[in-house]
Amino acid sequence: LAAYSSIFTASHEFTNILGANSSLSSSFPTNFLFGTASSSYQFEGAYLTHGKGLSNWDTFSHKPGNIADGSNGDIAVDHYHMYLEDIELMEYIGVNTFRFSISWARILPKGIFGDVNMAGIRHYDNLINSLLGKGIEPFVSLTHYDIPQELEDKYGGWLSSQVQKDFAYYANICFKYYGDRVKHWVTFNEPNVVAIRGYRSGIYPPARCSGSFGNCSSGDSEREPFIVAHNMILSHAAAVDIYRTKYQGKQNASIGIVMNAVWYEPISNSSEDRLAAQRAQSFYMNWFLDPIIFGKYPQEMKDILGSLLPHFSKDYFKKLKNGLDFIGVNHYTSFYVKDCLHSTCEQGPGISKTEGYYLRTALKNNALIGESTALDWLYIYPEGMEKMVIYLKNRYNNIPIFITENGLGVMNQPDSNVDSCLNDDKRIEYMKSYLDALLSAIRKGADVRGYFAWSLLDNFEWLSGYTIRFGLYHVDYLTLKRTPKTSAKWYKQFISNFTRFE
Ligand code: NOJ
Repeated sequence: LAAYSSIFTASHEFTNILGANSSLSSSFPTNFLFGTASSSYQFEGAYLTHGKGLSNWDTFSHKPGNIADGSNGDIAVDHYHMYLEDIELMEYIGVNTFRFSISWARILPKGIFGDVNMAGIRHYDNLINSLLGKGIEPFVSLTHYDIPQELEDKYGGWLSSQVQKDFAYYANICFKYYGDRVKHWVTFNEPNVVAIRGYRSGIYPPARCSGSFGNCSSGDSEREPFIVAHNMILSHAAAVDIYRTKYQGKQNASIGIVMNAVWYEPISNSSEDRLAAQRAQSFYMNWFLDPIIFGKYPQEMKDILGSLLPHFSKDYFKKLKNGLDFIGVNHYTSFYVKDCLHSTCEQGPGISKTEGYYLRTALKNNALIGESTALDWLYIYPEGMEKMVIYLKNRYNNIPIFITENGLGVMNQPDSNVDSCLNDDKRIEYMKSYLDALLSAIRKGADVRGYFAWSLLDNFEWLSGYTIRFGLYHVDYLTLKRTPKTSAKWYKQFISNFTRFE
């Protein structure tokens, strides 16, 4: 953390926090987007309202034992009904963009060709218009983990190549109805997480896995993640193709994909560990980005997986190359990586043929990679932000980047009172240090165009339910009352310094 300590004030007093950020925010590029992020299942609630169909997450969260606190997203933070109030909260902060996802099951309750649910169409129409009315640009994902349950029941969802044309059909509807106002589209949020958690460890729907990876009743952890990823890449390609051939000329939006981007730091300087870190990145992030940008899977994956890795046709190569206008980066954390291909590792999670023979750990000689948090996957290591962005800049020819998520989650202790949640200096420290690291990457020439804090509000944190809070606003889940945390005030001040110097 030493490199970033200069931006911390000795005291955490609010005035000092505010005073310290003016030089930081004023250094971002002029047209930079500052926003907050959300997703349909985590925010909307209204799970059967106005003709919405069931999603895979509705079904999954309703099964006892799947979610830590036994909760679900039936109501979530009721953003479906409270979006106007939430836009006022955004207006208070002063953001110029809002990232949200469309619920596929709200637009096409059965997911497939057929009647469009006009009430669903109207909802996002109203949301988009209301945002624009306040000068807030909609930054829209077509999927954020949740897909219509019907697709699973009918043909196994992402496992079937049929999903490609259904996704393309759905994407076309969204482009048609909203494309006149949306300037940034995202096809997928974290498809790498969907593939691994849904089909290897089996902890997310459709909960498929096998062997030593978990205890699901069906699945093939060695093979299915790659089939699913292949179908998602081809679905992305189909949507981009439709956009570019039918809409691009008139609407001129950018279209991208959002990856869960973990920084992998080699545990030693040995060439084996450095190669292992490279393999880890290839098996996690470049897995999707290489095919979409270069038209082929990373060489490390081909070498290790052989025939387990599906093939792209020549036709695909022609169509898909440069199939992205920007990369969306969800970056929160970093891990060390140790080689297990040339040296023996103690057994640990994730050492397998399909993981590319590496061990991922937070510890080196008993020292953590960064500062630990209440979340076992989140280590505060701001350097990881700079390294990640520079890595992407170099690998993908300085393609535009948006930091589509970054933020700090805090456990909601049963005895924690509202006040202790509202004083979230730690979150401010986290955001400042990561923003400073981001700025450093920009100064080194990375073409970064925006930053989204995860999240506007506390919300449904997947397997953790409502036990982890990520919001700039506190939500009382009994009354749904929203209250700004110190971080909301800090972000407001930060952004106003930015616009002032624009
Ligand atoms: C990334 C996911 O996109 C988002 O849905 C989730 O809440 C955050 N990470 C925090 O875990």
